[in-house]
Amino acid sequence: MKKGLFITFEGADGSGKTTQLNKIKDLLVEQGFDVVVTREPGSLDIGQKIRNILLHQEGFVSDRCEMFLFLADRSQHVDELIKPAVEQGKIVLCDRHTDSTVAYQGYGRGQDIELLKRLNKIAVDGIVPDLTLLFDVSTQTAQDRVGSEKDRMESAGAKFHSRVRNGYLELQKENPDRIKIIDANNDIDKVFEDTKNIVVKLIQESRGV
Ligand code: TYD
Repeated sequence: MKKGLFITFEGADGSGKTTQLNKIKDLLVEQGFDVVVTREPGSLDIGQKIRNILLHQEGFVSDRCEMFLFLADRSQHVDELIKPAVEQGKIVLCDRHTDSTVAYQGYGRGQDIELLKRLNKIAVDGIVPDLTLLFDVSTQTAQDRVGSEKDRMESAGAKFHSRVRNGYLELQKENPDRIKIIDANNDIDKVFEDTKNIVVKLIQESRGV
């Protein structure tokens, strides 16, 4: 492989995407691929500090402040980790990325969606996922899975999360080649089967198999 691959995992809190990301990592590592697992927000030192504010700050956090913090984290993450890893031929599995900002800050919080897309472009500096897996789950199931210990974002309420879900589905319609939907209402094994099929296909295509 000349260049690596950049795969993002998206979906609601409680969609099970992180579990699937780890299962895909195990599979790819077993097959001898050089895999990097990372997440947004908060993969690196600066990101950890930003994550702490975003998820655990008490009291008022303005919607614009929240938006810029997610974007600031992303800019650092792209420059420090994602770009170099992809250039070194690694497979980068990233838990949340640009689509989270459009879904959560745009559709969820009501920030200007076109503006968010432009700001995302600045943050990613030319890096676009080769594949985005969207783990779609009903808002009720997702909320049940999250349980009662919620962070600042998870506490935003069912209506907010329902708008986020619709936002993701809208993004998928706009980007059908990049974003593949997986029905995450299914049990873990079936979701893994579906996820694996899509990832394996991408890897085969990228190597010209
Ligand atoms: P995290 O604990 O990583 O949740 P999850 O395991 O569901 O990914 O928390 C990240 C939270 O931040 C999650 O509620 C989604 C939210 N988020 C945004 O609102 N905008 C963004 O751009 C990103 C990356 C995450």
